[in-house]
Amino acid sequence: MIAPSILAADFARLGEQVREVADAGANRIHIDVMDGHFVPNLSMGSVVVKGLRPITTLPLEVHLMVEDPGRFLDGFVKAGADTLIVHLEVLPDPRPMIEQIRSLGKKVGLAFNPDMAVERIEPFLRDIDLALCMTVFPGFGGQAYIPESTQRIKKLRAMVNMHNPACEIEVDGGIDARTIREAASAGATVFVAGTAIFGAAKGPAAALQELQQLAKIV
Ligand code: DX5
Ligand code: ZN
Repeated sequence: MIAPSILAADFARLGEQVREVADAGANRIHIDVMDGHFVPNLSMGSVVVKGLRPITTLPLEVHLMVEDPGRFLDGFVKAGADTLIVHLEVLPDPRPMIEQIRSLGKKVGLAFNPDMAVERIEPFLRDIDLALCMTVFPGFGGQAYIPESTQRIKKLRAMVNMHNPACEIEVDGGIDARTIREAASAGATVFVAGTAIFGAAKGPAAALQELQQLAKIV
């Protein structure tokens, strides 16, 4: 499954670009929210979700790279988000947050950065829909996939198989035609791609379809 990250899209033509990847077979749309504190950059808020909601039926997944995600959940849900992904780094005990997202009737994702021990997510795998293994340090699009990520995805795959095989394994950062197969064969099932789709010379639709094909052949 491919989740185009609109962070790399042309914001002057955002609706058009989302329609293009949706028509080309994207499985969901990934929306990167940055607060300038948890990560050293600012990006977008719930108005963007609200603006995109009427133009696509694809699930909208919101990746909250923020220090205090609880403050923003309601706003994103009202705007039309389907999945809320929060970072383990800012949640010493993520259980109340997982419950809160569930009570809003939305899917729950738990993300963790490249420097966090993969084992830290294990106790929560039964309670989430998606585990997001960051393959770069979050904050900016266009970074290179960290090679050690592959071993981490394998570890996560083994833990997910043991505790909750229905939990999706998503990878985010530096996913392109070269790295996607490696991540797929390590056990990832959902691939976020920004630059490799919206920055592709061949255009977003062709780039997306190439990634879809490569992700299947593992
Ligand atoms: C990283 C974000 C990513 C980013 C991926 O901070 O969470 O979703 O947009 O971008 P690419 O695919 O360009 O690495
Ligand atoms: Zn992201």
